[in-house]
Amino acid sequence: MDKVNVNGENVNELLQAQGHLWNHIFSFINSMSLQCAIDLDIPDIIKKHGKPMTITKLVAALPTLHPTKACNIYRLMRILVHSGFFAQKKLGDGTGEDGYVLTGASRLLLKDNPLSAAQFLKSMLDPVLLQPWHFLGAWLQNDDRTPFVTAHGEMLWDYCGHHPRVNNSFNEAMASDARLVNSILIDKYKGGFEGLNSLVDVGGGTGTLGKAVADAFPHMECTVFDLPHVVAGQLDNGNLKYVGGNMFEEVPAADAVLLKWIMHDWSDEECVKILKHSKKAISSGGKVIIIDMVMMKNGKGKEKLMETQLFIDMVMMVFLTGKERNEEEWAKLFSEAGFSGYKIIPILGLRSVIEVYP
Ligand SMILES: C[S@@+](CC[C@H](N)C(=O)[O-])C[C@H]1O[C@@H](n2cnc3c(N)ncnc32)[C@H](O)[C@@H]1O
Repeated sequence: MDKVNVNGENVNELLQAQGHLWNHIFSFINSMSLQCAIDLDIPDIIKKHGKPMTITKLVAALPTLHPTKACNIYRLMRILVHSGFFAQKKLGDGTGEDGYVLTGASRLLLKDNPLSAAQFLKSMLDPVLLQPWHFLGAWLQNDDRTPFVTAHGEMLWDYCGHHPRVNNSFNEAMASDARLVNSILIDKYKGGFEGLNSLVDVGGGTGTLGKAVADAFPHMECTVFDLPHVVAGQLDNGNLKYVGGNMFEEVPAADAVLLKWIMHDWSDEECVKILKHSKKAISSGGKVIIIDMVMMKNGKGKEKLMETQLFIDMVMMVFLTGKERNEEEWAKLFSEAGFSGYKIIPILGLRSVIEVYP
């Protein structure tokens, strides 16, 4: 069999290549199946059931399911079990029947989970954010700033400025990520905040992280700084205040500048500008605290994590002018912006805290 050739190719290798190709052509089905499960509230329904849920019970519990479509739920669940979002467990009632249970990944999609990433999923898979992916090739051959511009005619932040639905959905997605990061950061990076009397969260969105820091450190004056349309309507409260502005013009003064998921949005030139404004804003003895990825160079044994970093790097290419950076690339930015040193603290999974010193 090994020796059979078709078109000059070894048949086994040819069929393996076809399988690999099909897998990649249809990879989007993982995201879309997951989105469908969220649309139908499946994780919440299984949680509410409180024990392994049979396919019959699950189908009966989907209130809006059209009766002629009931037979398809088994197929949807089969792929989601395969991708690790649900598992199957014996009911343990003597019937030998299996039922669906949640996994760690689907628990992260529950509506009542304070760390729920459901909104992040919905926003990233919104048709407005999916459309630019169809323009990646065209963008590589034109002079638009991003594929998002090729698709929608303007930069993402400008688009959000006058499309309230996308703006709210994006800000909610960021807030949901910030909730997860908060819960780890306030605990694992407590020492990093101690000794600071003021902090400005630059590009801090609607203030989820700013609020958490302000609550955890009541003596600290916390400012959430973002574009005017993002902070519009947010109310100052105690040691937390909101300021609308443009980080390319000025960053409000504070002991520390926090930049969570900001630098990866921007090109090297733009990052150096943000860093220079941040350096001007911090008092002597202060620091810049960056939360972003440090790209791994060698994914051996960590292929999935590396693939996720590569995915997010492509997200930055398609939506914005940014990219994900490895340690050398980060170090180059810091030195170009006039900083004297930095420390990488890898406490956030795919992302790290990077302290940068003037
Ligand atoms: C990827 S989001 C990160 C939000 C938040 N830091 C978080 O991680 O949850 C980037 C943020 O930068 C803000 N932004 C974009 N351009 C800005 C500018 N010129 N000045 C201030 N903020 C800006 C956006 O409005 C958005 O809230």
